[in-house]
Amino acid sequence: MINRISSSKEAIQLEDKYGAHNYHPIPVVIAKGSGVKVWDIEGKEYYDFLSAYSAVNQGHCHPRILESLTEQAAKLTLTSRAFYNDVLGTYEKFITEYFGYDKVLPMNTGVEGGETAIKLCRKWAYQVKKVPENSAKILFANGNFWGRTLAAVSSSDDPESYGEYGPYMPGFSLIPYNNLDALEKALQDKNVAGFMVEPIQGEAGVVVPDEGFLKKAYELCKKHNVLFIADEVQTGIGRTGKLLACDYEGVKPDILILGKALSGGVLPVSAILARDEIMLTVKPGQHGSTYGGNPLACSVAMAALQVLKDEKMTENAMKLGLVFRQRMEDLIKKSNLVIKVRGKGLLNAIIINDTPISKTAWNICVQLKENGLLAKPTHGNIIRFAPPLVITEEQLHECCDIIEKTILNYE
Ligand SMILES: Cc1ncc(COP(=O)(O)O)c(C=O)c1O
Repeated sequence: MINRISSSKEAIQLEDKYGAHNYHPIPVVIAKGSGVKVWDIEGKEYYDFLSAYSAVNQGHCHPRILESLTEQAAKLTLTSRAFYNDVLGTYEKFITEYFGYDKVLPMNTGVEGGETAIKLCRKWAYQVKKVPENSAKILFANGNFWGRTLAAVSSSDDPESYGEYGPYMPGFSLIPYNNLDALEKALQDKNVAGFMVEPIQGEAGVVVPDEGFLKKAYELCKKHNVLFIADEVQTGIGRTGKLLACDYEGVKPDILILGKALSGGVLPVSAILARDEIMLTVKPGQHGSTYGGNPLACSVAMAALQVLKDEKMTENAMKLGLVFRQRMEDLIKKSNLVIKVRGKGLLNAIIINDTPISKTAWNICVQLKENGLLAKPTHGNIIRFAPPLVITEEQLHECCDIIEKTILNYE
């Protein structure tokens, strides 16, 4: 089908008229992407500093990922799991060896990864931990974000996410993030089966816990026979300067949830990984998805993980993250508008010196767009900066110049 949209204005009008109004995008219409850059319909070039919420870690339209996509697409795309296919097993071996787990359960979106992890945790609780029927509890941290399904919003403390969607999923409890005392207290309940946590809270505004939190939280979970479930959908796959953000503290989650960059932004591909004792509690017919584990997704995911390694993107994220935060620290000294920078690797955010309900961060992002860099505020006054991990040092400096100029001119 020929795309007849000829202007950004027309594209925005069409979305407004025919699409649900469940998003509020920055007014830019992207028509093409390559590496760290994207172009709008009129041909204006931008640096992408959102990377589709960390799904495009490997850069837009990575040629090796596209090659695996087109080769596999011409051969076989979907069989469902009613039959075997000739790619899934190879992928399962590849990804379990890559992350060091016994088994993988493939799904599609990140939120399905979270749902799958919780279902698996509940199965384990009843079969292995011997929690009384229908009594298993899962702990989450305040500020968590793991998607938009009813279960996901049931664990949310953000009224924007959960408001008017009740009744909510029972068996979920919230504790403060980065608070070991609260965790230890909550773990006294023998029916707690799992603690699901983001190693850095992405949507909450790149909230980095204290050093040692993850390790101690993991140890507390072990002590109380509770599964430590890491939601690395946004932090995983090199984004924070390590393959997984949990690697910073040598923590190996009992259940690991991956998504987003598992396909390099090409298809919805997610997965959970666990050891046999946990994963084999789910039997045939008890969980699944028509598209989960489809040959196209498996082929793309293998390429996405391989290029990450071959092109040392994780190492680049580590190195350039330090450069970025230093540049932002320098900016803080020159500007009253920015009060803080935080993050790890190339998952960073700056805090704007204004209330969350003000429009300052939004207006800065619109101005950044005018100046050729795309970013989006989160929680009102926080701007996340997460470029594809293929960015070069020279490009990063150019982008920091754009950010600096935009903010200094805004004041
Ligand atoms: C930490 C985390 N988990 C899960 C999800 C949900 O992923 P998806 O939007 O693919 O369902 C997100 C999405 O932003 C996320 O940031």
